Amino acid sequence: MITIRPARAEDAEALPAIEQSAGLAFRAIPELAWLADGDNVSVERHRALIAAGACWVAADEDDRPVGFLSAGVEGDALHVWELDVRLDRQGQGIGRALLERSVAHARRRGLAAMTLTTFRAITWNAPFYRKFGFRILGGAEIDARLARLLSDEAEHGMALDQRCAMRLDLSRTGTR
Ligand SMILES: CC(C)(COP(=O)(O)OP(=O)(O)OC[C@H]1O[C@@H](n2cnc3c(N)ncnc32)[C@H](O)[C@@H]1OP(=O)(O)O)[C@@H](O)C(=O)NCCC(=O)NCCS
Repeated sequence: MITIRPARAEDAEALPAIEQSAGLAFRAIPELAWLADGDNVSVERHRALIAAGACWVAADEDDRPVGFLSAGVEGDALHVWELDVRLDRQGQGIGRALLERSVAHARRRGLAAMTLTTFRAITWNAPFYRKFGFRILGGAEIDARLARLLSDEAEHGMALDQRCAMRLDLSRTGTR
């Protein structure tokens, strides 16, 4: 059985390996296979995100994390930095449960929106978030913060035309 719970400081060390395993999903896409061998978020950064209070893990029967979502408040939005589910646990509803937990948190905090950047055409990226009501922002809707993130990603080799910024307006939209 999987339990979604707030991450604790001692979970931080387990998270890079989950990100590494989750990223293996990209091996199936030749032009993005390099992502599977990319750098992971550091344990220090995970500790900081956990301390800030918007990181949740999906824990197994032994309370070991098999997936996590880390986010942070940016302006009036909760921005999703990472969402990863270990490869052998994907497709079992864990990603959805983590995302729902973060959306509920953002609503409770009275935040206006959730935001993130992701790949437009990868099934488990933009189309996955669209099912929750996230929409792809276009042109002038992309504020300076999100534009900067997209350009940082481009500098790290992610083709700008394949990436997108998405937003879920919490004041108006349901989660499904
Ligand atoms: C994205 C990710 C976290 C989703 O977690 P998950 O536990 O596998 O997803 P769920 O089982 O909750 O599935 C949610 C929906 O996404 C779809 N989906 C998830 N993975 C999919 C895949 N590999 N192929 C097709 N559809 C997929 C499911 O069909 C499901 O929709 P449905 O229930 O309406 O059919 C996980 O696939 C992952 O870690 N991917 C690699 C890392 C990544 O890309 N993270 C997101 C970065 S923005």
